[in-house]
Amino acid sequence: ARGHFLLLLLLPPPGRAGPCPALRYVAGGQCKSAAKLDGKVVIITGANTGIGKETARDLARRGARVIVACRDVAKGEAAASEIRAETGNQQVIVKKLDLANTKSIREFAENFLAEEKELHILINNAGVMLYPYSKTADGFEMHLGVNHLGHFLLTFLLLERLRQSAPARIVNVSSLAHHGGRIRFHDLHGDKSYNRGLAYCHSKLANVLFTRELARRLQGTKVTANSLHPGSVRSELVRHSSVMTWLWKVFSFFLKTPSEGAQTSVYCAVAEELDSVTGQYFSDCQPAYVSPRGRDDETAKKLWHVSCELLGIQWD
Ligand SMILES: NC(=O)c1ccc[n+]([C@@H]2O[C@H](COP(=O)([O-])OP(=O)(O)OC[C@H]3O[C@@H](n4cnc5c(N)ncnc54)[C@H](OP(=O)(O)O)[C@@H]3O)[C@@H](O)[C@H]2O)c1
Repeated sequence: ARGHFLLLLLLPPPGRAGPCPALRYVAGGQCKSAAKLDGKVVIITGANTGIGKETARDLARRGARVIVACRDVAKGEAAASEIRAETGNQQVIVKKLDLANTKSIREFAENFLAEEKELHILINNAGVMLYPYSKTADGFEMHLGVNHLGHFLLTFLLLERLRQSAPARIVNVSSLAHHGGRIRFHDLHGDKSYNRGLAYCHSKLANVLFTRELARRLQGTKVTANSLHPGSVRSELVRHSSVMTWLWKVFSFFLKTPSEGAQTSVYCAVAEELDSVTGQYFSDCQPAYVSPRGRDDETAKKLWHVSCELLGIQWD
């Protein structure tokens, strides 16, 4: 119940003005950049639905070659063909990626590196929330495994290609829920105690800390890394909780549409004024407050080393 309550705090406070103030407020910040992405290659994880799909639609409209990286290829193909038809951009391509399985992540990266010469934007968007206690194929707690470790490994495997294609950007979709998280090094996989709401918060804090440490390590490379909160968005994210599904329906008027929810991801991916901005956290297309735990560099470094150990990689 504590975890669910924390997640309810995601519902936005009232306040923004506009022609219809309520709707304008709920819609949140909009990416105003008209940047074109012809010739640019983008990977978006979890782009078969929700925020990821709308991010893919926007970047495809800008002319990018968009790799829709998702675990359900049929669902991905349905989304991709809809985007191709609407935008006229035929370079929206579906590739299989299951972030709950490091073998699948390695296969995805291997195929991508064999097929694509460049990578300019990596959007680590996929996520699970309120998952009943379960483990990934590699024995990681599901939220930590998919939301953090899966993207950590994916970024590691693709980083050289991003560096070669610089200027390049890494965009990590975190959440306001990171405020409720902590990195429980003594029980990372929730074996001793588990709360699915808190497990989500912990994994979203991990996204913020990963971004911070990654940006520090990438200083001077022209590869930037930023994280963001998309807002409270009407998507399938609540699907694992009947309580949250019900609440999302009741409060749907106060939630962003997926397209509105994609604005900050698009902003971090394309905005000209962010060319050399790195290690920051955004919400509604502007810098946002990061919790003290999300600014703890010692924890960020420790999480980095522990993540490498868990994944059996050396990333100096
Ligand atoms: N919605 C919100 O209010 C909200 C608020 C704050 C942050 N966020 C963040 O926004 C991001 C996108 O969420 P959303 O709201 O768009 O939710 P969504 O509609 O549920 O989309 C999540 C995406 O992640 C994919 N995914 C889940 N597990 C995966 C795995 N093991 N391997 C590969 N892909 C996997 C899903 O694929 P399937 O369709 O195959 O399951 C889906 O494409 C998440 O990181 C979430 O934490 C959302």
